[in-house]
Amino acid sequence: MSVWALLVAAGAGERLGEERPKAFVRLGDLPLLAEPLRRLDESGWVDAVVVAAPPGWEEPAILLAEELSATKVVASVTGGATRAESVRAALAEVPEDALVALVHDAARPLVSDEVVERVLAPLAEGWDGVVPGLPLADTVKRVEGDTVVGTVDRAGLVAAQTPQAFLLPTLRAAYAGDLDGATDCSSLVEARGGRVKVVAGDPRLVKVTTQADLELVASWL
Ligand code: CTP
Ligand code: MG
Repeated sequence: MSVWALLVAAGAGERLGEERPKAFVRLGDLPLLAEPLRRLDESGWVDAVVVAAPPGWEEPAILLAEELSATKVVASVTGGATRAESVRAALAEVPEDALVALVHDAARPLVSDEVVERVLAPLAEGWDGVVPGLPLADTVKRVEGDTVVGTVDRAGLVAAQTPQAFLLPTLRAAYAGDLDGATDCSSLVEARGGRVKVVAGDPRLVKVTTQADLELVASWL
């Protein structure tokens, strides 16, 4: 099967609060984007990579791929105003005969071959999509303003990470419709009745949101 990785890196990184977009903030000696780009390019499971870059950063993304000799990177497209629109822009670069899409947040730099394998394997068993999930450690409260109105049973909950894997016809159908409110790909597939499996996530796949997250990921490198 041919697996296309869609690496969404087009966010502004407002909560990180740096001048440049999050994907180009320094992690170690290189822009953050270098880490997931190199890892996906080196993965034996991945055949091609499309990057969704912030407006104006399409060329730097390609130059970075060249610097890393990431030869599977076939395109750097302009991302959209939301994550879902960035996924849609990257999806447009995937050829009709490709089988599987692996959608990954550049903001989760430490993607491993093990988790890629875990999300790809169930697609051969009839699942439409697969997401890595982590059980919640904290007690989860429902709140209204500053008032706690309930406690949610966390037994049935996981936090969904990326990479998320989908059969391409399923993902294309999901992205043909309304994208409002979608914070991950799976939610759009679920909304159309797709069967999505959850597999073990990885605590090292934390999403870099704040400076503290950036320091944590840098310490793990
Ligand atoms: N993303 C994207 N296009 C957008 C928004 C987000 O490709 N318009 C990507 C980000 O680059 C990131 C992933 O989606 O890899 C998850 O988004 P998030 O962590 O929210 O990153 P930012 O939107 O950049 O951060 P912030 O919300 O703090 O601005
Ligand atoms: Mg965001």
